[in-house]
Amino acid sequence: MKNFEQIIVANWKMQLSIEEAKKLARTIKNLATEKKISAKKKIVLCPDFLSLPEVAKMLKDSDLSLGAQDGFYEDIGAFTSQVSIRELKASGCEYIILGHSERRALGETNLTINLKVKAALKHGLIPIICVGETFTERQEGNKGTIIMHQVFEALQGVEVENHHQIIIAYEPVWVIGSGQAISGEEASQTAAMIRQSYVDVMEGRHTDSLGVIYGGSVDPSNINHFTKMANIRGALVGGASLKATTFVELIQNS
Ligand code: PGA
Repeated sequence: MKNFEQIIVANWKMQLSIEEAKKLARTIKNLATEKKISAKKKIVLCPDFLSLPEVAKMLKDSDLSLGAQDGFYEDIGAFTSQVSIRELKASGCEYIILGHSERRALGETNLTINLKVKAALKHGLIPIICVGETFTERQEGNKGTIIMHQVFEALQGVEVENHHQIIIAYEPVWVIGSGQAISGEEASQTAAMIRQSYVDVMEGRHTDSLGVIYGGSVDPSNINHFTKMANIRGALVGGASLKATTFVELIQNS
């Protein structure tokens, strides 16, 4: 991961109206300036599609970046309801969350995630690829296999170049929104496994391009359990990103 030391991504899901998203973006931006959050900590806000243009305006001339929560891999065509990654880039997005477990639960497959990763890199967006096991997969002892498979499928055939960045977010599905995060040690071990899977798929090339982050019930009191781990470069934050003071406190504690 280049250019910054840490990345904290706010996933606002479908929780806010356009007005609320605008207001939250403005307050986070102002608080981040007031608290002098270093530009070395990259803050990314991911509102829903409709709020993207308004939030983009709000973040203009700031160090904060805009991200989408998904996107479609084709550039143009008869794809009713889809929003192309190309247009997301034109709307000011620099990042895109792909393969979030809530999208996988609605039918997103490893194949479409792979196509989206390729489209994201083609259009100059940084993909934040989510991987993680369900509670049942964990109980059955399949956590490692599932995650390695997700990493491999998301990245196979992807032409990474030196200037590209790829973020993989380890999000244990059963932890998301539960209020109970896993331990920093477990997240760190899993991050190491994800990095190894990445190295395997890339056949040892472009290892500097990867940053692994953790997501799942991250809050201001536990963020440093993860970010103090050398191989975890930040967090993907849902619930705790919906209140400006909480989110900025989380960033300060990271
Ligand atoms: P959470 O969500 O922080 O509310 O657990 C994280 C996510 O879904 O990315």
